[in-house]
Amino acid sequence: MSGHGAAIPMSSRPCGPLSGTAEVPGDKSISHRSFILGALCVGETRITGLLEGQDVLDTGRAMRAFGAEVTRHDNGEWSVHGVGVGGFAEPGNVIDCGNSGTGVRLIMGAMATTPITATFTGDASLNGRPMGRVTDPLALFGVQAHGRSGGRLPMTIVGAPEASGVEYTVPVPSAQVKSAVLLAALNARGETRVIEREATRDHTERMLAGFGADISVDTTEAGRVITLQGQPELRPQAITVPRDPSSAAFPVCAALIVPGSDVLVPGIGLNPTRAGLFTTLREMGADLTYENEREEGGEPVADLRARFSPDMKGIAVPPERAASMIDEYPILSVVAAFAEGRTEMRGVKELRVKESDRIDAMAQGLRANGVEVEEGEDWWIVTGRGPDGVPGGATCAARLDHRIAMSFLILGMAAETAVSIDDAGPIATSFPIFEGLMGGLGAKLERSAD
Ligand code: S3P
Repeated sequence: MSGHGAAIPMSSRPCGPLSGTAEVPGDKSISHRSFILGALCVGETRITGLLEGQDVLDTGRAMRAFGAEVTRHDNGEWSVHGVGVGGFAEPGNVIDCGNSGTGVRLIMGAMATTPITATFTGDASLNGRPMGRVTDPLALFGVQAHGRSGGRLPMTIVGAPEASGVEYTVPVPSAQVKSAVLLAALNARGETRVIEREATRDHTERMLAGFGADISVDTTEAGRVITLQGQPELRPQAITVPRDPSSAAFPVCAALIVPGSDVLVPGIGLNPTRAGLFTTLREMGADLTYENEREEGGEPVADLRARFSPDMKGIAVPPERAASMIDEYPILSVVAAFAEGRTEMRGVKELRVKESDRIDAMAQGLRANGVEVEEGEDWWIVTGRGPDGVPGGATCAARLDHRIAMSFLILGMAAETAVSIDDAGPIATSFPIFEGLMGGLGAKLERSAD
């Protein structure tokens, strides 16, 4: 079952060359933050290119529940009339964040230092994920959290009145945790310092600076030190959301493995904290080029061109690159299945606590389709079949995880026989136009009765 409806079984048959232009939707991380930061300033924030995926729409609904006005205009732009730092009202009902870890963790941070109480829930996937990583640092501000065992949702957050700034070293590489602390720090008195040993996506820092917060980032021996002064008056912004590199990964990787393909994926955000997959693919020998490199809305952007690459070789992905491609390991493992030799992915324990346990989900599905996978707690290795090809033929469980669902559908495009998934419903959380967009390039996706 999808989070919000009946399951949508889907299969993907081997197809001819993929060709054309793939205009993928806006960046999910930046879209969530646009709604939340827009809600934290007085006046109108205007957003162009917002991802209208279920995860982001759930965050927009939550911002309304905290008192902001969130409106979609006929031309597809969105506007947020915010309530200011510390201005959130107490919601009248439970906040349902659906499938979105980013949504719930960032919103918990954003409300944490306002003296209101809010209860959060989500779908079966989200309600199984750890929230202690966010509520532990929020407790330093004086916030109380009452959830289920293991720090899981549903959970009630009692905001801290009159919080003061804190110093916190993030114990796991997580942009969500870092961002939750920074958002909580907005309504705390004085200075907050957040230290991350490994750099994670920095959209919150960049956007807070854009909204007028007093924030600085220093690179030290201890890692990145982010210093934020509390209680700023944020200024509303006009935001243009770049297209999502994590969504671009799917048509790019499909083009690399389907014989004869040549696909252009324009306007992709290439923030270095997000672009690790593309570096890795090029090291494997992918024919992937950046065209028309430019800057848009403070983020580096390029058009990606991906062509069929029959000579890719497996590599050891440097563990220090993991944070910059953390959402892309499932689709990388599909490309690795078609490369020659072993692709080693280490230092990726975080994959076990995403929308699903992504190592287990991909390992089981790849094996069922004839690909050898070894795994440990924080590593996995895919042995590529190179010229032998991937047999395919299995039905895989999507496990309420959009990236698992899309990865197996891409596998089916280049395997010898069709690959099916039990539920394509979760794809709508991040890439609602996936089916039509891939079909437009020549993919053969079919909704099946199953
Ligand atoms: C995100 C951070 C990452 C990523 C998620 C989006 C964000 O999660 O997996 O899809 O927008 O901050 P973690 O912070 O758990 O690594």
